[in-house]
Amino acid sequence: MRIDILSLFPRMFEGPFGESIVKRAVDAGLVSIFIHNFREFAHDKHGTVDDYSFGGGEGMVLKPEPLFEAVESIRATLGDSAGPVILLTPQGRLFCHQIAQELSRQQNLILICGHYEGVDERVRQHLATDEISIGDYVITGGELAAMVVVDAVVRLLPGALGSDRAASEDSYAKGFLEYPQYTRPRVYRGWEVPEVLLSGNHQEIARWRMEQAIERTLLRRPDLLAKASLSKEDRELADKIKARKGFN
Ligand code: ADE
Repeated sequence: MRIDILSLFPRMFEGPFGESIVKRAVDAGLVSIFIHNFREFAHDKHGTVDDYSFGGGEGMVLKPEPLFEAVESIRATLGDSAGPVILLTPQGRLFCHQIAQELSRQQNLILICGHYEGVDERVRQHLATDEISIGDYVITGGELAAMVVVDAVVRLLPGALGSDRAASEDSYAKGFLEYPQYTRPRVYRGWEVPEVLLSGNHQEIARWRMEQAIERTLLRRPDLLAKASLSKEDRELADKIKARKGFN
C-alpha cells in the first residue's frame, strides 16, 4: 500500500510514524508513506497557500491551485491505480472501524490535511473523492486526523501486527468492546485476579471473556452491540446477559 499525505506541517508526522506499528509496517515494506508539503505548489515566491474568503468573514481559506496541483503530481506517478483522495474535515463521514477496513483494501490513498477556516469548496467538489471526520469536535488541522486514519488502516494490513496477531481478532472488529485483562501479580493491593482466569479451563475462560465483553458493551456502548454481526450463540448469550442484568 502507498499513502501520500498533503500537509503544511510535515514534521508533525515524524513522531507518530517513527515509532511502533506504523514504523514497523513501513520498515517491513507493507506500506510506503510520503508526506508532501503542498506549499511547494504555491504559485508565488512567498509560498502563499491561503487567501481571504470571498464574501467576507473571519479567517483564511486554503486556495485550490496548490492542492489540485500537488494531487495531480502524485497521481501522475501512480498511473492507473489511483485510489481515493480523502479530505480530513469535521464535515466528513465519521471515521470508524468499518471505514478503516474499507481503506485498508485500497492500493493507495491520498490524504489532504486542511487548515485555517477551511478549504476552497472546489477542492471538495472536484478533487476530494471522500471526506472523513475523526469525531464531532474541531481540531487545529487535518494532521492529527490523518495520523489517526493512517494508524487505524495500517494496523489492519496483513502482517502489520506481527505473525501471531491479526487485527481481525480485535474485539472491535467483531462489534463489541474488549474483555477485562489482567497480568501478574495475582493480588495487587488486595485486588485479586478473577479466579476463572487462573483455572486453566480454556473453555470457561473463553465464555467468561465473551460474557464480560458483551456486558461491558451493553453498559458502555449499546449502539455497537445493536449493529454487531454476532453468531447465533453469542446473540443468545447477549440476550441472556441482558435479561440477567435487567437491560432491555
Ligand atoms: N480537522 C479539524 N477537525 C477535524 C476532525 N474532527 N476530523 C477531521 N479533520 C479535522
